[in-house]
Amino acid sequence: MLDHLHQERILILDFGSQYTQLIARRIRESHVYCEIHPCTMPLEEVKRFRARGIILSGGPSSVHDEGAPLANPGVFDLGVPVLGICYGVQLMAHQLGGRVERAERREYGPATVDIDIPGELFRDIEPEGLRVWMSHGDRIISLPPNFRIMAHSDNSPAAAMGDPERLIFGVQFHPEVAHTPCGKDILENFLFRICRCKPSWTMKSFVESAIVSIREKVGNDQVICALSGGVDSSVVAVLLHKAIGSRLHCIFVNNGLLRKGEAETVQRVFRDHFEIDLNYVDATDEFLRRLQGVSDPETKRKIIGNLFIETFEAQAGRIPDARYLAQGTLYPDVIESVSFKGPSATIKTHHNVGGLPERMKFKLIEPLRELFKDEVRLLGRELGLPERIIMRHPFPGPGLAIRMIGPVTRNDLDILREADAIIQEEIEAAGWYEHIWQSFAVLLPIRSVGVMGDERTYDQVIALRAVESVDAMTADWARIPYDVLGRISNRIINEVEGVNRVVYDISSKPPSTIEWE
Ligand code: XMP
Repeated sequence: MLDHLHQERILILDFGSQYTQLIARRIRESHVYCEIHPCTMPLEEVKRFRARGIILSGGPSSVHDEGAPLANPGVFDLGVPVLGICYGVQLMAHQLGGRVERAERREYGPATVDIDIPGELFRDIEPEGLRVWMSHGDRIISLPPNFRIMAHSDNSPAAAMGDPERLIFGVQFHPEVAHTPCGKDILENFLFRICRCKPSWTMKSFVESAIVSIREKVGNDQVICALSGGVDSSVVAVLLHKAIGSRLHCIFVNNGLLRKGEAETVQRVFRDHFEIDLNYVDATDEFLRRLQGVSDPETKRKIIGNLFIETFEAQAGRIPDARYLAQGTLYPDVIESVSFKGPSATIKTHHNVGGLPERMKFKLIEPLRELFKDEVRLLGRELGLPERIIMRHPFPGPGLAIRMIGPVTRNDLDILREADAIIQEEIEAAGWYEHIWQSFAVLLPIRSVGVMGDERTYDQVIALRAVESVDAMTADWARIPYDVLGRISNRIINEVEGVNRVVYDISSKPPSTIEWE
């Protein structure tokens, strides 16, 4: 969509490494635009992409495996600089006339590399004792013609190799991971010295270009956006509003399962502050009516999902001439649908995409399709969204309904809302909010004995869940200091009527999940 705007771009061909997205993020952090495409991308398309440089990612295969994915040999003849990483460098050796053999031992973990030829790739990098991260089985034992060894380690005689004439380079280690401290410098040498890119990809430039293309696409039509209050939909709304002003119509459905103060905050920020046309629908009664007596979590999810669509459709029907539906689809959702089968293809998205558009007559507009989550946050900042919204933790669509075990009742919702608000307040006050992926209360369907004053109580139990994670695929319970946990527990028990016990969930995912239902 923004083709004309990203003149200088890098193409990453994905061979299935778990780190492929990380390569892209590092490059974007260096302010160069890049895209990930499957390694099977036809040569014609590669040419049309007009990359300043091409990166061949790592991958789980061995070049000797049957059916191992290969690079299209034409990629090396385009006159465009190429950098192979891990499996990418082995492919180079294998396909360009060198030799790769299966190593006896897999080399996995930290290693030390010495540079033999700095060239442009290792310019200004300390030549001895580079700390790098290795993760490979095979190793290169002879180089293709015209290649030279640029760096070695004890285990990898060709830890880096290159053909400086053709600007084709490869590294056996992973420059994209944090365990390779000089990795960013190496990647930047590739980008700026070898590919001669300029660091022009910034959120400021993105806003300018996105506005132009949104206007081009939408013309004089009206656009609808489902606002949830989460980061992605909030950024979409503000960006669209900047582009098309009053022709953007946001719909915010209060399903009665939101956090404390959520509906008010969304209205204050979007309607009052940004002056966006916000259609607020309070459908609490209908949601609670349909959820009455339902305990099964998947049934709850279905009911909530369906009623949301119904409510949204009804409201959208009242907005005349709406032709577009804006969605906060992010780049990782786009990549995995095209990725070569490998670990990078399996990152889950199931929860937050889909649903709305299929049955509706709208055309989609997805202005964040090219962005990673951290870029969306930067964009939000660029657009002047409050920090509270930008840094917000994810919150599930079915909301508090999946955080109470058993049927949803108004009383339990109130308990959960109050307990949850205390947790958020204390975690923020302790400076832990940013270290945590999600934190919340779960209301358990049991009662236990307690004593308050002189009275015996028989009240409910709140489980506190707080996890650290990078993508919700795996998560570990957060090591929140005891005194913070203590404060949370005291406050919940003292301030939330009906609760006399708080427990802390110390399970990791897997085998547990983040939510309880
Ligand atoms: P689990 O519980 O599977 O959650 O470890 C992983 C992430 O997904 C969120 N989640 C949901 N989000 N609708 C959503 O929009 C849902 O039904 C749902 N279930 C879980 C969860 O909060 C966590 O971030």
